[in-house]
Amino acid sequence: MDIVDRIIISEEEIQARVRELGEAISRDYAGKTITLLCVLKGGLMFLCDLAKHITQPVAYDFMSVSSYGDATETSGVVRIVKDLEESIEGKHVLIVEDIIDTGLTLSYLLNNLHSRNPASLRICTLLNKPENRRVEIPIDYVGFEVPNAFLVGYGLDFKQLYRNIPFVFVPKKELIENL
Ligand code: IMP
Repeated sequence: MDIVDRIIISEEEIQARVRELGEAISRDYAGKTITLLCVLKGGLMFLCDLAKHITQPVAYDFMSVSSYGDATETSGVVRIVKDLEESIEGKHVLIVEDIIDTGLTLSYLLNNLHSRNPASLRICTLLNKPENRRVEIPIDYVGFEVPNAFLVGYGLDFKQLYRNIPFVFVPKKELIENL
């Protein structure tokens, strides 16, 4: 594909790891119903694949939190663009994220969600970019540690595009230099 500089995680690697994560979650939550809280839009692809490998009953709910706009650097500004539809009080909530970078988005989300009194609140992220972290985040499930580069694909966008590509890649410089 002409926008790909190099592939960081292939489709096969992602699918194998997502299966493992689903199996681990199924074991850890045995006997419990899980609310998968998808952080839109990046977490959507991951949620769909992950949920297929969870064996107990799951409910979905969606939240949209903005910290990036269309830029490749975080603004540090976090706001709820779309809130959950259901109350999470007394529920086992698992946040499903595409990537944790600075941690600012999740730090805000965690505070906000804790105040709604869930029975438990955990985090599952496909990608973790620890080099750029600004606030400590307790991550329960991680798919892959990734380098501090701007990544695209499998939920991650460039200007809202390419989320549908089934692998994670570094885009060609020509694609991002005109941001
Ligand atoms: P954080 O608040 O810096 O942890 O950013 C989290 C959000 O920023 C993610 O859910 C993504 O939407 C976005 N993001 C972080 N790194 C990347 C990247 O490399 N490519 C595309 N989006 C990213």
